[in-house]
Amino acid sequence: MKIVVLEPLGEKVSIPTSTTLLDTLLARRCEVAMACGGQGICATCHVYVREGHDSLTAQTDREKRTLALMSGAQASSRLACQACVVGDGVVVELPEGMYLQAAQDLTSL
Ligand code: FES
Repeated sequence: MKIVVLEPLGEKVSIPTSTTLLDTLLARRCEVAMACGGQGICATCHVYVREGHDSLTAQTDREKRTLALMSGAQASSRLACQACVVGDGVVVELPEGMYLQAAQDLTSL
């Protein structure tokens, strides 16, 4: 099992090793559009990885291509559907305005 921290919520999610970051978001009941069905094309699962880059699987060519087309991408950007958690210490920042589903999410900020 691995623990992934979701910021700015400060929430820790326990997931089985090799689970994708997308499954981590879904376990937290974040409503991700997943327009491409998790194929690394739509970027609706975009996140920033603040810590633990080496604890994720490497970017695929498809993920690199999709991120290169995004205006909000940073060096720390990953597509949650393409990144599997294989180590400890992963801290993910949800892009501002994305994935907040309830008033309690906002009040916890
Ligand atoms: Fe489409 Fe991740 S769900 S890129």
